[in-house]
Formats: sequence, C-alpha cells, structure tokens
Amino acid sequence: MNSSTTQGDTETGPAILDMDPFSDESLNDPFTSYERIRDAGPVVYFERYQNYAVARHAEVQAVLKDWENFSSALGGIGLGDIRKPGAWRPAGPIVEADPPGHTKVRALLTRLLSPAVIRTWRESFERDADELIERVVAAGTFDAVTDVAEAFVFDVFPRAVGLAPTDRLAEKLVLIGELNFDGLGPRNARFLETERRVQEILPWYEKSYQRDNMLPGGFGELIFKAGDEGEVDPAICAGLLRSFLRGGMDTTVSAIGCVLWVLATQPAQWARLKENPSLARGAIEETIRFDSPITSFYRTTTRDVVLAGVSIPADAKVQVFLASANRDPRFWKDPDVFDIERSTLGHVAFGAGVHACVGQMIARLEGEAVLKALVRRAEKIELLAPPTRRLNNCLSSFKSVPLRAIAA
Ligand code: HEM
Repeated sequence: MNSSTTQGDTETGPAILDMDPFSDESLNDPFTSYERIRDAGPVVYFERYQNYAVARHAEVQAVLKDWENFSSALGGIGLGDIRKPGAWRPAGPIVEADPPGHTKVRALLTRLLSPAVIRTWRESFERDADELIERVVAAGTFDAVTDVAEAFVFDVFPRAVGLAPTDRLAEKLVLIGELNFDGLGPRNARFLETERRVQEILPWYEKSYQRDNMLPGGFGELIFKAGDEGEVDPAICAGLLRSFLRGGMDTTVSAIGCVLWVLATQPAQWARLKENPSLARGAIEETIRFDSPITSFYRTTTRDVVLAGVSIPADAKVQVFLASANRDPRFWKDPDVFDIERSTLGHVAFGAGVHACVGQMIARLEGEAVLKALVRRAEKIELLAPPTRRLNNCLSSFKSVPLRAIAA
C-alpha cells in the first residue's frame, strides 16, 4: 500500500456526519453548518454522499497545497467523478489538470493575465465603473446585484475576452455560472432544475467559447494564437475560454453584490472607506473572506493518505470547504466580524497552491473600481428592502440587494 502522511501521526477514522451540506436549511444558514462540520473533527465523512471533507483552515490549506495526494485531475473538482459514465461535463483543461500538464497551461494564462497586462485594463475599467455608478446614484434607487455587479462585470469582462455580443447576455451568464457551481455538488433537485433551465441557452453557450465567436483584440484571441504557435495544445483553447465563462464572472458578481450589502448595513465600515478610499482593496479581500463566493469543491486522493491523524483511502472524494476555513476561529480572531482593515493574509477564497485563482488580479481590479467610484459619488448607501439570496450548491451569492444612494 502506498500510504502518505501529510499531518499528524496517529491514525483514526473520520467523524461521521449524517447532515446534508447542500440542503436548503444548510445553504440558508451556512455558517452554522460550517461550525458543526469544523467542530466534528479535522476530517469528516458525509454518509449521505460518501465523501470525506475538511472545513478547518489548517486542513483546507494542507489539501489545497498538496496536489500530489489530493488531485484535481483524477476525479475532477466536483462531487461526481468525471471518469464515470454520465459525468455532466468534460474536464476543465486547467482547473482539472495536475502538474506537469497543468504547469504549461498555467504559464500561458499567467503570461496573458500578468500584472502588467491587467494594469493596462485599469483605466478603462475605472472609467466604465464611474459612468455606471454616476447613473445609478443619479437614479437614487438601484439593485446592487443586477444594476451594479452584473451590469459592470458582464460588460467589462466579456469585452476583455472579446466575446461576440448576444442578446440577454446577463441572463445567460448567470445561468452558466449557476450550472457550473450547482454542478460541482450532488445531482440534487437544485442542480436538476438549473440543468433544465439552462437547456434553452446551451446552443449559444457551446458556440460562445469557440474561436469564431472571439472578436479581434481580446485575450480570447490570444489564447487561440498561443495554440497556433504550439505554446499549448490547440485542442484545449476553447475549453480554456469555457473556464473563464464558467468561473470568472459569477464569482466577482457575488463579491461585488456582497460588499455593497455589507457597506449598506454597516455604516461604520462605509464611513472608514469613505474617509480612506484606498481601503477598497481591503474591503474586497475582507468580503471574500467573510462570505467566500466559491464555498466548496473537491479533490480526489491519489493514494492512501493520513491527514491530521485521520486515514483517508485512495480514490476518495474530499470536499474542501473554503468558506468555512475563512471563518475558522482556530485561525482567525473574531472571524464573524467584518473589518475592512483586518489582515486577510491566509484567506483561501482564491484557493491556494498550484490552482490558486489566476484571475484574482482581475477580480480585485473590478471590485476596487466599483467601490472607489461609489464612495466618490455617494454620501451614503442604505438597504431599501431585505436582500434575497440565490441558493446554489457551491456558490454563495445574492440575487437581489435593493439599495438607495444619497449623492455626495
Ligand atoms: C472574486 C472572484 C473570484 C473568486 C472568489 C475565485 C476563486 C477561485 C478559486 C477558489 C480557484 C481555485 C480552484 C481550485 O483550486 O480548484 C480559482 C481558480 C481559477 N480562477 Fe478564479 N476566482 C475569482 C475570479 C476569477 C476571474 C475574474 C477569473 C478570470 C480570469 C478567474 C479564473 C480562474 C481560473 C482560470 C482558475 C483555474 C486556475 C488553475 O487551475 O490553475 N477567476 N478561482
């Protein structure tokens, strides 16, 4: 037996849990569920889905940083095993690859999305954010999710990619994000309903990330050119673009919707940001620590592993609760307090290790552009009505956050 010990030295079994982390009850009160999972032990086992899980910061980080024992490629990053018949999607060419194959693809994206490249986007993102915020503040009342987060992200990001225009773009992109993140979890009623709703737009979706749908000048075109030049296998280029559509937008929409909700409901935080707009970066970082857009995904063990003294057999699915690690009191002081001035070093909302989010600079740029425009143009923002959440297996987000802005 090829056994590997990543932490701890005495071997025990995992704590067995009979709860459903994907029930409406759990998703409506996720932080209570996470506490229960964390308190049960460093590694738990969900009877219902027959998978292992980690929810404490130390073990989440250990799993994310250990691709050799906890693979993204072997069974994919969802609960359903991508090797088994009926897998609902093909493996993602970057997020579901391990080194050495992953390294080459990652090097291309790191080059195309380098800090120097992203800096050249800053001016136009800030201008677009300012125009949008000027309009919504002038209107007085608006929805933080549809009128700001979606309106901004679904405009600037598809343009940066070079996605050809289409009707109902926002509606289509929301659905694709829902499908992707529901699809990482079980084939429950929530997933099946999303799968049903998405059918109508699937023909558009499958065409959207192909070469002939890319406008000249976007980074979509650059990815296909890199394929032509042999930097990566040309057969994976469309799949790479698909990864951006699936994971690069709803995540950022979630973060922007959430930060506006917190700032509208915590006037002291708003006042600090208004006083010092350079805290916008910290506000985005704290938001994704506090309410992490991607709540969990999976790895598959490549061999028998002992983690924090708990044995996990080879070929087991391990659920990694990012959102729980980011609220773990074993790591964070006052984890349930939102504080834009806290040090968020060590948060795992962007993942960690070889797969750490390659688009994090873009997400920060988008979030900062919106926040800076808002504190410049609004004296304060207030919640008009209770927000509504969009329940999803693996994405935390609001569907609607109705706000009023008082112009500065
Ligand atoms: C607040 C917004 C975002 C959050 C919270 C987020 C979160 C994450 C996380 C947790 C991972 C790690 C996945 C894993 O380990 O299996 C990841 C990877 C990735 N993200 Fe993001 N992301 C965000 C925005 C973006 C954007 C704007 C892009 C677009 C460029 C993007 C593209 C990617 C890609 C391509 C990967 C795969 C990287 C790899 O496997 O090497 N993400 N993201």
